Amino acid sequence: MPHHLNGKVALVTGASRGLGKHISKTLAEAGAIVIVNYANNQENAQNTVNFIVSDGGKAVAIQGDVRDEASVERLIKQAEKETEGSIDILVNNAAGPHPVLSIEELVWQDYLDQLDFFVKAPLLLTKAVLPGMKRKMAGRIINIGSEVVQLGTPNHSNYVMAKAAQLGLTRSWANELGSFGISVNMINPGFIPVERHEGEDMSEYLRGVPLGRMGVPQDIGNTVLFLASDAGGFITGQSLSVNGGNTLGI
Ligand SMILES: NC(=O)c1ccc[n+]([C@@H]2O[C@H](COP(=O)([O-])OP(=O)(O)OC[C@H]3O[C@@H](n4cnc5c(N)ncnc54)[C@H](OP(=O)(O)O)[C@@H]3O)[C@@H](O)[C@H]2O)c1
Repeated sequence: MPHHLNGKVALVTGASRGLGKHISKTLAEAGAIVIVNYANNQENAQNTVNFIVSDGGKAVAIQGDVRDEASVERLIKQAEKETEGSIDILVNNAAGPHPVLSIEELVWQDYLDQLDFFVKAPLLLTKAVLPGMKRKMAGRIINIGSEVVQLGTPNHSNYVMAKAAQLGLTRSWANELGSFGISVNMINPGFIPVERHEGEDMSEYLRGVPLGRMGVPQDIGNTVLFLASDAGGFITGQSLSVNGGNTLGI
C-alpha cells in the first residue's frame, strides 16, 4: 500500500479493540502517526500499538474518556506533545454499551448516555482539534455512524436517535468548515462482527445482505483511509453505507 498519509497525525477514539483497532492499523500502514485512544483497557490499546510498531508504523496509546471535557483536553495536549504536531485526521469511533430497550423500558438518561458518545464527544474533540486544522487550512473529521438510522431498528431508539443526531452534525459541520479545507463525513457500518459479538448467530442478518458476506473491520478501515487520503479530498458532508448493500432497498 502506498504511504499516502506520511506526515499526518490521526486520532482514532476507542481504538483498543473492535473497529477502532483496525482503523488505526490501516491508517498507520498508510504512513500516519496514530493516536490509539482508549478508556479502560490499556493492555489492549498497547497491543494495537505494538502491532503497528512491529509492522514498521508509528503509534502511541493515550487514555481519555471522550465524554469528559478535562479528559479530552488532556488527551489532545498529550497527543500533540507526543507527536510534535497537531491532529490532521480525527476519527470519532468510540462507543459504550448501547442496550436494547423498548419505549416502556427507556428513561431519558438512556438517550443522554448515547448522546454523550455520539454528539458530546465529537463536539469536544472537534473543538479541540479545530485550531490546528484551521491553522493548516486542512483536516479530516470522520464520524463512525451506523446503518441503524436507515433501518430504524426497533427497541434501540436510544442508539438510533444519537447516530441520527451525529449525521445532522456531520452535515452542518461540513458546511461550516468547508471554507477551511476541513471535510466532515460519516461512515455507516453494517453489522461487522468484532470481539464483543463472539458467539452471536449472524445467519438471519446475512440472508439480507446483497453482497452475501458479513463485513470485516478492514472494510471500515479501508473506507476511513479513502476519506482521509487525497483520493477522498473532494468529499464532504456525506453519509456512506459500508454494509454490503444491506440498506439498498430503503
Ligand atoms: N461493530 C459493528 O457491528 C458496528 C456496526 C455499526 C456501527 N458501529 C459503530 O462503530 C464504532 C465502533 O464500534 P465497535 O463495535 O468496534 O465497538 P467496541 O468493540 O465496543 O469498542 C468500543 C471502543 O470504545 C472505547 N470506549 C468505550 N468508552 C469510551 C470512552 N468513554 N472514551 C473513549 N473510548 C471509549 C473502548 O475502549 P476500552 O476497551 O478501553 O473500554 C473500545 O476501544 C461505534 O461508533 C459503533 O457504534 C459498529
